[in-house]
Amino acid sequence: MKNLSMGFVVFLLLGCAGNKKIANNSFLKTAFQNDFLIGTALNVPQIENKESKAASLISNEFSSITAENIMKCEIIHPGWEQYNFNRADEFVEYGQQHHMFIVGHNLIWHSQLSPFVQKITTSDSLMLFMTNHINTIAGRYKGKVNGWDVVNEALNEDGTMRKSLFLEKLGDGYVIKAFELASKAAPDAELYYNDYNIEQPKKRAGAIALIKSIQAAGVKINGVGIQGHWSINNLPLNELENAILEFSALGIKVMITELDLTVLPNPWDLKGADVNQNFENSAFMNPYPNGLPDSIDTKLADSYESLFKLFLRHKDKISRVTFWGVDDGHSWLNNWPIKNRTNYPSLFDRSLNKKTAYKKVIKLASKNK
Ligand code: G3I
Repeated sequence: MKNLSMGFVVFLLLGCAGNKKIANNSFLKTAFQNDFLIGTALNVPQIENKESKAASLISNEFSSITAENIMKCEIIHPGWEQYNFNRADEFVEYGQQHHMFIVGHNLIWHSQLSPFVQKITTSDSLMLFMTNHINTIAGRYKGKVNGWDVVNEALNEDGTMRKSLFLEKLGDGYVIKAFELASKAAPDAELYYNDYNIEQPKKRAGAIALIKSIQAAGVKINGVGIQGHWSINNLPLNELENAILEFSALGIKVMITELDLTVLPNPWDLKGADVNQNFENSAFMNPYPNGLPDSIDTKLADSYESLFKLFLRHKDKISRVTFWGVDDGHSWLNNWPIKNRTNYPSLFDRSLNKKTAYKKVIKLASKNK
C-alpha cells in the first residue's frame, strides 16, 4: 500500500469493512490489495447501475474507476460557458458510494474536443479555454476525484510532440501550464501524464523528457499512465519492464491505465497485404463472431498471466492497474479499428462470466502472498 495516500487507505478500509465476502481473495481488488489498485473504465449504463449483475461485479472486483468518456471535453464542456456535469457528477457519486479511487479522464487531449474549441484561432483564446476548462472541472471535483489524467496523448510515436491545436497555439509549454493549473485547482489530487505505446523506446524517451520538463519547472506530477492497449500477438513485455523501471526512476508512480488485449488481427499487421483489399466485415478480420476458440482463450489467459507476473514483480513501482472496460461486450475494441467486430479483450465475457484469463490472474495473486 505504500504507493497510496493515507487518506485513501482509510477510505478503502472503510469500504471493505462490513462486507465479509470481500475479506478473502476471491475478488480482484482484494486479491491485489497489498500490491496495487485494480480499476476499470465505466460507461454510462454502468454508472447508472442499469445492469444489476454488472453493478455488483464492479463494486466487488474493482477498487478504482475511470470515466471512459463522460469527462471528455466534447461531453463535459460543449460551449464556452456551457458545462454538462450530470453524468460526471453521477460517476463521482458512484465512486464515493463504493469507496473507490476515482480517476478523472481527462483534462487536456487533442481528441474529442468540442467544436467551439476546434474553431479557436488565437493563442490567447486557447489559453483562456484551457484555464477555464481546468479550473472549472478539476475545481468542481476537488477533494473528490483522486487522480487526473491531466494531459493525454501529447506525443508522436517518435517521441516528438504531437502537432495538436495546443502545441500549435501555445507551444510545448502548454503541458507544464496544464499541470500547474490542475495542481492549483485540485491540490489534493494526483496528477498524471497518460499515453499509449510509451513503453516503446522512442516514445518512452519523449515521455521521460516531457515529465522531466514538468519536474524541472517545479510543477507537480505524481505519475505516468502507460495505457496498455496491446495484442495477444505482440505483447511488449521487455519494453514494458524497461519503461516501468525508467519511469519509476523519475520518482513518480507508474500506472497501467487502459489495459485490454485484442485477440483480432489489426489491419496494420498485414504487411504486404493489398491496401485496396476491403477487410471490413470479412471473416478474416472478424474470425470469432460466434465465440472464442479454446486455443485463443488460452493464449489470452497466458498473455494476461505474463503481464501480471511482470506487474507483481514491480508492485513497489506500480500503484494501479486499470482495465479499459469491464467485459468483452462493452469494449471499444469491438468497433475499432474496424466497426462491428466481436473482440474478447477482457477478463469477463459478454455474460459477465469469469474467463480463463481472470482465473490465471487471480491465482497469481494468491501465489504472491
Ligand atoms: O454515445 C454515442 C451514441 O449516442 C452514438 O449513437 C454513437 C454513434 O457512433 O456514438 C456514441 O459515442 C461513442 C462513444 O465512444 C461511446 O460509445 C463515440 O462515437 C466513440 O467515438 C467513443 O469512442 C471512445 C473513444 O475513446 C473516443 O473518445 C471509446 O468509447 C473509448 O474507449 C476511447 O478511449 C480512449 C481513451 O479515452 C484514450 N486512450 C485511447 C482509448 C481508446 O481509443
